[in-house]
Amino acid sequence: MILVTGGAGYIGSHTVVNLLNNNNDVVVFDNLENGHIETINTLKTIGHIEFEKGDLRNIEDIERVFSKYKIDVVIHFAAFALVEESVKNPAKYYRNNTFGTLNLLDTMLKHDCKKIVFSSTCATYGDLNYIPVDEKHPQNPISPYGSSKYMVERIMQDYDKAYGMKSIILRYFNVAGSDEFGRIGEWHEPETHLIPNILKSIFDKDKKFKIFGNDYNTPDGTCIRDYVNVEDLAEAHKLAIDYLNKENKSNIFNVGTENGNSVKEVFDICSEVTNKDIPVEIASRRSGDMEALYANANKIKTVLGWHPQRTLKDSISSAYKWEQNHF
Ligand SMILES: NC(=O)c1ccc[n+]([C@@H]2O[C@H](COP(=O)([O-])OP(=O)(O)OC[C@H]3O[C@@H](n4cnc5c(N)ncnc54)[C@H](O)[C@@H]3O)[C@@H](O)[C@H]2O)c1
Repeated sequence: MILVTGGAGYIGSHTVVNLLNNNNDVVVFDNLENGHIETINTLKTIGHIEFEKGDLRNIEDIERVFSKYKIDVVIHFAAFALVEESVKNPAKYYRNNTFGTLNLLDTMLKHDCKKIVFSSTCATYGDLNYIPVDEKHPQNPISPYGSSKYMVERIMQDYDKAYGMKSIILRYFNVAGSDEFGRIGEWHEPETHLIPNILKSIFDKDKKFKIFGNDYNTPDGTCIRDYVNVEDLAEAHKLAIDYLNKENKSNIFNVGTENGNSVKEVFDICSEVTNKDIPVEIASRRSGDMEALYANANKIKTVLGWHPQRTLKDSISSAYKWEQNHF
């Protein structure tokens, strides 16, 4: 059985759909602090899942799940993920993302479960020496959020050396899109991500979309990021589990498309897909925003055989379907 922590959230729920499509037995563990019971109910219409409400910060909650089910492998999404909030309240991030993960790992060891796939982030790299970023790039996270994830990466490497726990660390770039049928999608409150915010501004006139800075040293002056489709990302987790089962080895992979797209390009594709003239305002730069960030994803392509199947336009189309269905 596969345990999915944070499976009521955005990326976790899309990965659960992939696991169900591949005939896996799945138990979702989530405290529903940022995930949604509606998402769990939708997942239950797609396939059979067990849902256990609980919090990683309470080790008894995790113990309860491991005592009830025979867990073979864990996919660990549950975390807080707002960079700005982490700067204002680092305790919240270290306690949940780092300490909560320690509770999980120690309970896994107790029950002899030694395989885990972990949601890390390109935010662990910090300021960049070069792009595209590969896995060997030095890691100097600049936010408590990035540090809380980086610490877990280090803990996992030590747990492998000392206890033989095997981990696949996936460093995601910017995740985008939704389920192709619009059944589940990106549902963050507050929403800080670019594509849903552009799309939400269509439905809510109070949410006028702002481009933060158009004077960067990029071809159109706006920041460049790497947008990986959420269903493609879900597939990376499936391949990571196959690798763990076959090779029984730890490894680390970037998950990105290797394409950099500017904010302006994303905005233009949103206008094209929705066929709407979306109002936009140019605002000043936000502190801490990097000019350009995109992945070298050669390693995941060669070792796991993962290849992104969906374009940025596909991601925006599915995200729009979700926003139309949902809001
Ligand atoms: N969305 C992105 O672009 C992105 C990029 C890089 C990395 N990540 C990482 O991917 C993971 C998933 O991100 P997401 O966008 O799906 O976030 P999300 O907030 O939608 O999902 C996280 C889920 O974890 C649950 N959760 C949080 N703390 C918990 C706890 N202590 N106990 C039990 N459940 C808890 C939340 O209720 C939520 O359902 C996170 O670890 C995040 O850091 C996301």
